[in-house]
Amino acid sequence: MVQFDGVAVRYGRGPEILQDIQFALPAGSFHFLTGASGAGKSSLLRLIYLAQRPSRGRILLFGRDTSAARRYELPALRRRVGVVFQDFRLLDHLSTLDNVALPLRIAGATEQDVQKFVPDLLNWVGLTEQMHANPPTLSGGQKQRVAIARAVIGRPDLLLADEPTGNVDDRIAMRLMYLFEELNKLGTTVVVATHNENLVSRLDYPRLLLENGRVTKA
Ligand SMILES: Nc1ncnc2c1ncn2[C@@H]1O[C@H](COP(=O)(O)OP(=O)(O)OP(=O)(O)O)[C@@H](O)[C@H]1O
Ligand SMILES: [Mg+2]
Repeated sequence: MVQFDGVAVRYGRGPEILQDIQFALPAGSFHFLTGASGAGKSSLLRLIYLAQRPSRGRILLFGRDTSAARRYELPALRRRVGVVFQDFRLLDHLSTLDNVALPLRIAGATEQDVQKFVPDLLNWVGLTEQMHANPPTLSGGQKQRVAIARAVIGRPDLLLADEPTGNVDDRIAMRLMYLFEELNKLGTTVVVATHNENLVSRLDYPRLLLENGRVTKA
């Protein structure tokens, strides 16, 4: 599903913040991505969803060598990836419902499907009352749940969640993890970046640990 071969990243003329990254994520797997703040978790995820190019090495996504992919092929690859951004990136002028419905509408879903699936999911993440509210009026934890619902609604082949439970309490965090597990059971490959050790220790999934610019698999 995802393979990194000798990948490195640097910003501008700075030092390489990631070096010789080497790992493979099999289809259907569930991994945590851990490491201290600033270790490079968000940077590594950005490489996977093609928002950033490696300064060295090769990245395969869905079996495709991304450095060889043409620019026009990238949107189709990206559409198969659901991303929960660390900073949410919601559209402030759209309601909760419309934010979450966006991937479905882009994929050409009917309004009937939108009305069938979106309210259900919003109910599940505890946002029924906020369905018609716009993001600027929501709390941090509520925005985070909108971002999660938007990332999972289209049942992507690959889900990348960047610190998806950073703004919610433990009870909601476990509920959201359950949502990722359910999606994983339906076939989605999942990567959850977090420094919430409590969460990682409660769930028995392998982890990619980022340390000193390198990944070790445990
Ligand atoms: N756009 C950028 N320009 C320059 N340096 C950057 C940029 N983005 C990240 N960095 C640097 O790269 C390193 C890794 O940052 P990154 O955001 O990937 O870490 P992280 O593990 O996600 O941290 P956190 O847990 O705090 O979210 C940091 O030293 C950061 O300062
Ligand atoms: Mg980060």
